[in-house]
Amino acid sequence: MDWGMTNRLSRMIKQSTGRSVMLACDHGYFMGPTSRLENPRKTIEPLLPYADTLSVTRGVLRNGVDPGTDVPILLRVSGGASILKEDLSDESITTSMAEAVRLNAAAVALSIFVGSPHEKESLINLSRLVNEGQEAGMPVVAITAVGKELEKRDAKYLALACRLAAEIGVQVVKTYYCEDFGRVVNGTPVPLVVAGGPKLETEEDVFNLVHSAIADGAVGVDMGRNIWQNDHPVAMIKSIRAIVHENATVKEALQLFSEECRQRLKSSAEI
Ligand code: 5RP
Repeated sequence: MDWGMTNRLSRMIKQSTGRSVMLACDHGYFMGPTSRLENPRKTIEPLLPYADTLSVTRGVLRNGVDPGTDVPILLRVSGGASILKEDLSDESITTSMAEAVRLNAAAVALSIFVGSPHEKESLINLSRLVNEGQEAGMPVVAITAVGKELEKRDAKYLALACRLAAEIGVQVVKTYYCEDFGRVVNGTPVPLVVAGGPKLETEEDVFNLVHSAIADGAVGVDMGRNIWQNDHPVAMIKSIRAIVHENATVKEALQLFSEECRQRLKSSAEI
């Protein structure tokens, strides 16, 4: 791998642990003002110090993120559909490689929709992005999107989608955690990170997901709603960091979460 590509990747996936906690705040590109991400700056600012990478579109980057930040940016460059459409797979590349370089992105991200009406277009878009990424020294992250069909998130489907992305030449794949996740990891010869999906019922459910994904071979998470839709987002991201970077158990993460919430409530009461 060329120096620029390797350097960009090593900013996102930490050399000390080989892992990464990415903060996903790119939902607005098709979901609009998602609950608790209505004002992206307000959501992102308190969480940014604990993120190894921030996933956003260029619009949120320019309008909601301090350019003085040293947190690497995973720039979402696909779009073109909204939640009003039944089929979310009709996406194109929305942001050029020159713009990604101008914004000093550490990597670019695009969704692929395997098995959906626009499967071919999304895979060809990915190929184009990888070709341009190779020229620019820009890593490409493929997101194995499932549109509205959340039930597609099983090992057979995700192993297929992740492998297709790896064969096209991406540097990282972002996918979902599922039962028998080891099958997805084994068939994907590049690092995998997992999304969180819609908000889970309890913090324990989230920590279980993160712990299992890491134990099964993911290098980290690119997680959004289960962090910033929680009433205690900073406590959430800090506890997730403990699992990802310090191999904390679910029980230890829950203890850390309670302690963080207690400290924060105490300091807000003192003000
Ligand atoms: C939106 C995305 C999100 O970045 C991804 O789904 C991660 O966020 P969440 O943890 O909320 O699912 O790709 O299209």
